[in-house]
Amino acid sequence: MSKVYVPPIKSQGIKTKLVPWIKNIVPHTFNGVWIEPFMGTGVVAFNLAIDNAILADSNPYIISFYKELSDGKITPDIVKNFLQNEGKLLREKGEDHYYHIRERFNNYHEPLDFLFLNRSCFNGMIRFNKKGGFNVPFCRKPKRFSQSYITKIVNQVSYIYQLLQVKNYTFLCQDFRDTISLGADEDIIYCDPPYIGRHVEYFNGWDEEKEIKLNELLGDTDSKFILSTWHSNDFRENEYLKTIWSEYHLLTREHFYHVGGKEKNRNAMLEALVTNFPAVFTIQEYTKPIQLTLCEEQESYQVIAQQLHAR
Ligand SMILES: C[S@@+](CC[C@H](N)C(=O)[O-])C[C@H]1O[C@@H](n2cnc3c(N)ncnc32)[C@H](O)[C@@H]1O
Repeated sequence: MSKVYVPPIKSQGIKTKLVPWIKNIVPHTFNGVWIEPFMGTGVVAFNLAIDNAILADSNPYIISFYKELSDGKITPDIVKNFLQNEGKLLREKGEDHYYHIRERFNNYHEPLDFLFLNRSCFNGMIRFNKKGGFNVPFCRKPKRFSQSYITKIVNQVSYIYQLLQVKNYTFLCQDFRDTISLGADEDIIYCDPPYIGRHVEYFNGWDEEKEIKLNELLGDTDSKFILSTWHSNDFRENEYLKTIWSEYHLLTREHFYHVGGKEKNRNAMLEALVTNFPAVFTIQEYTKPIQLTLCEEQESYQVIAQQLHAR
């Protein structure tokens, strides 16, 4: 599988590991608009690199960052100089400087300050208080912006900067309800909302009313859709898959989360993709696309892969 590019803005719901899976079910002939109402880090869209895309999110700071990168107001060189200067001040002044940037960001909302915070806060989290202020504490590493870390971030910026020069991408700060209505029949809407029934801290919360609204809007759309959600872990199941999403096609895949890096804390989670079209798996070694019948069945991606290898 080809390299997965990690974008410069991190977030706790990033779908890096699911990119090859999602890429595999997008029809090879697809040439419509790729629409993401919940772009988050944008890792899925930036790796699929489809020619036309609408990428939206209710978090205005993610959108401002990518708009400025797209307009050329932010360039890889600007990012490099900025992180070198601010990184030097962080080394000299320690955490006071992090909190100074946090306050500056909460007053002026500059995209580069957002990048700085996102790459030096605790666990790369994006979290806001009730008044809308970014409130994630410092990662406690005053030497965070080493030369190699800056180079890594600049390379991440550079990949997307170049992509945006050759693709036609629109970034919108808006609610998912306004984005889904933009889809035409030749388009694909990829939805990755905050996971229902699980504890998440995003710019906006997520509840049953929103999940039902999303279900209604995707039920009415002329576009194809792919929804990312969770299926189950050792303790719980996502009940909505058996109710409002049950009429669609379901694909599942096991994913492991490590808590604190210990083997005994390795938690299995079954991730799910729900689609309104039959997913065709085109695993590269096979010349012929393989059609899987998945509607209302729970197929594990691993099991499917084993079956394919056994052929
Ligand atoms: C799970 S994250 C998306 C992760 C993304 N697929 C990735 O791989 O990085 C969910 C995103 O939905 C956004 N969001 C939450 N409520 C929203 C709403 N009502 N409308 C649009 N976006 C929303 C959050 O700001 C967050 O960026």
